[in-house]
Amino acid sequence: MSEPLQDKVAIVTGAGRGIGRACAVRLAAAGADVAVLDLDLLSGARYAGEPGGPTTDDVEARGQRALGVQVDLTDRDATNNAVDQVVQQLGCVDIVVNVAGGAITPYARSKPSLTTPEDFRTLIDVNLMSTIYVCQAAIPHLRAAGGGAIINTASTAAFTVFPDGSNSAYAMTKAAVAHWSRHLAAELGPDGIRVNMIAPGITLTGRVVEESAQTGHADRAIAEVPLRRLGQPDDVARVVEFLATDLSGFVTGRCLPVDGGWVLNPS
Ligand SMILES: NC(=O)c1ccc[n+]([C@@H]2O[C@H](COP(=O)([O-])OP(=O)(O)OC[C@H]3O[C@@H](n4cnc5c(N)ncnc54)[C@H](O)[C@@H]3O)[C@@H](O)[C@H]2O)c1
Repeated sequence: MSEPLQDKVAIVTGAGRGIGRACAVRLAAAGADVAVLDLDLLSGARYAGEPGGPTTDDVEARGQRALGVQVDLTDRDATNNAVDQVVQQLGCVDIVVNVAGGAITPYARSKPSLTTPEDFRTLIDVNLMSTIYVCQAAIPHLRAAGGGAIINTASTAAFTVFPDGSNSAYAMTKAAVAHWSRHLAAELGPDGIRVNMIAPGITLTGRVVEESAQTGHADRAIAEVPLRRLGQPDDVARVVEFLATDLSGFVTGRCLPVDGGWVLNPS
């Protein structure tokens, strides 16, 4: 029996570690060749909880072709070049999974009245503009392939507000990713290109495990999660696999929380 993504080529950004890496491995296991785009292809080395070595090794271990491209996705020209490189080396693009990003500015000044212009720009660039640049670079190739799937990463932060207003600019950028993606779904639907979003809740990547050992934030949240555990990177990757395959062939423009029910507001 053939794999669901046999003969497909996927780009996964931010796949050096964490959620992106889990997505790259899942898609490879489903039969896709995978291009890993990351600022640092060995970014997992920074955290004890992450697998060692490049993600491309894990993709190849599943019998698929792999390509690693080191690129800063906040740079539009560099992003265009990276996507061109994928097409030159792997032949086409069918699936785009944008995971690169994060709440990378200081939490202590993340309330709306305290956020600096520099922090706003950093978060807009790393979360929103990188996603837009990758999608815009890939769209001509997805059209040339006769259709495809884009999956962009929002967050439960995109539709909730912390009680003290912290994390505001990050949440704003993730809400922007989600709403821009809905518009993209409207534009690209007639071309057979589906655009969906995932909204992870707290997910225990190497980075989050290390950070929460200091803050205790993640452990405290478990009691608020109906399924009484926090997410693993592969919980998110399995939903990405669903959104990349024909199982979700009539789903577009939707944002799927992957949070164990942490946020149950209608969204
Ligand atoms: N882990 C969580 O709890 C959680 C929750 C909600 C949403 N998210 C979102 O999921 C995504 C992944 O989270 P994670 O915990 O795996 O993050 P992570 O920090 O472990 O990994 C992010 C990866 O993106 C890469 N990256 C960062 N900036 C880049 C750039 N400019 N160009 C290219 N690559 C870049 C990093 O090198 C790294 O490999 C992020 O968008 C994050 O906002 C995570």
